[in-house]
Amino acid sequence: MFDLIVKGGTLPDGSTADIGITRDRITAMGRLEGAETGQVIDATGDLVSPPFVDPHFHLDATLSYGLPRINASGTLLEGIGLWGELKKIVTQEDMVTRALEYCDWAASMGLLAIRSHVDTCDDSLKGVAAMLEVRDKVKGYIDLQLVAFPQDGFYRDPTARANTLRALDMGVDVVGGIPHFERTMADGAASVRELCEIAAARGLRVDMHCDESDDPLSRHIEMLAYETQRLGLQGRVAGSHLTSMHSMDNYYVSKLLPLMAEAGVAAIPNPLINIMLQGRHDTFPKRRGLTRVKEMQAQGITVGWGQDCVRDPWYSLGTADMLDVAFMGLHVAQMSSPEEMRRCFDMVTVENARILGLEDYGLHVGAVASLVVLDADDPIEAVRLRAARLAVLSKGRLIARTPRGDATLELPGRPGSVRRRHPVA
Ligand code: FE2
Repeated sequence: MFDLIVKGGTLPDGSTADIGITRDRITAMGRLEGAETGQVIDATGDLVSPPFVDPHFHLDATLSYGLPRINASGTLLEGIGLWGELKKIVTQEDMVTRALEYCDWAASMGLLAIRSHVDTCDDSLKGVAAMLEVRDKVKGYIDLQLVAFPQDGFYRDPTARANTLRALDMGVDVVGGIPHFERTMADGAASVRELCEIAAARGLRVDMHCDESDDPLSRHIEMLAYETQRLGLQGRVAGSHLTSMHSMDNYYVSKLLPLMAEAGVAAIPNPLINIMLQGRHDTFPKRRGLTRVKEMQAQGITVGWGQDCVRDPWYSLGTADMLDVAFMGLHVAQMSSPEEMRRCFDMVTVENARILGLEDYGLHVGAVASLVVLDADDPIEAVRLRAARLAVLSKGRLIARTPRGDATLELPGRPGSVRRRHPVA
């Protein structure tokens, strides 16, 4: 007897299976003909995937676009300045309201696990309090992991160090940093060392905004990998952005990537934001500003696509759709072979789940019963179409439905309904 069966779906590996769910767990997979069940979701011919995971977001700033003004230059630095103005005037209640609205979008898109950085450079720590409240409010359907993020610099901002430690004491999950924003390279390196030591002492994961710059000499990822090894943090550390690697000397990168691989440091590029913000000081040719994704993967480094921003001081667009993120990443990193396109889907699902350390994630007996039914035949088609989320299940419950997106054609002599699905035969 199951509470719910998802019938006949195609899994990302191409096999088909019914998925039997009891309470919040997957309790059977395979042919479940004739099994007793409370509810059936017919997924015949549709892709059934584990939920989307976003490893890099800013939930404290989201949906604030235009407040108190728009980012005129479109640069990272003006965005940081603008956020500095906004965070002085925004209330804790505003942040909670906007974050919950975003979480509704995310749930409807099958985005059910989010790692969000939360700014700790504010003596009131109202953003931290707001995000802890949101983490608690959404925990029944979204796993929210919070990173203590000293936006204005762990050393550069006079009270950031104390406030970051306070945020961790309040229950923030992960240690963040921003070494390239410190005043000197030496301060940046020192911040990496101290923040990794704090994480090691507290048994926490690390995820730093690292080398989000076009400066090829911004090399804090080297120190992050070194400290990861020294402190035994392998598999628990991620470097977000790493855009400077795009511009680094090739010989240097040939030494850097094996160090990252040995240290088990993951990389989180954010293609929508990187392509929008980087290269702003260039004339032509203009750099793409995305890190070396395929080159890292070839070394065995885990790379996950992150979203970073939706409607905030840094980015005016966004819909909480991780397939948008994968689509942009696929283009900017030129991941065009079938294997690479397929990998882009994994980079917003299973690979991001690994970076967050999610337990019991996936489609197998014993896993948490969270999944998405997509209007697509396979993962590549899901990316191509940014396919509709026909049904979203979180922890055993159906939480969202979207109708299929077929258009009706009004052309004489042509069929009336347009299906954009077009799988390879
Ligand atoms: Fe970020």
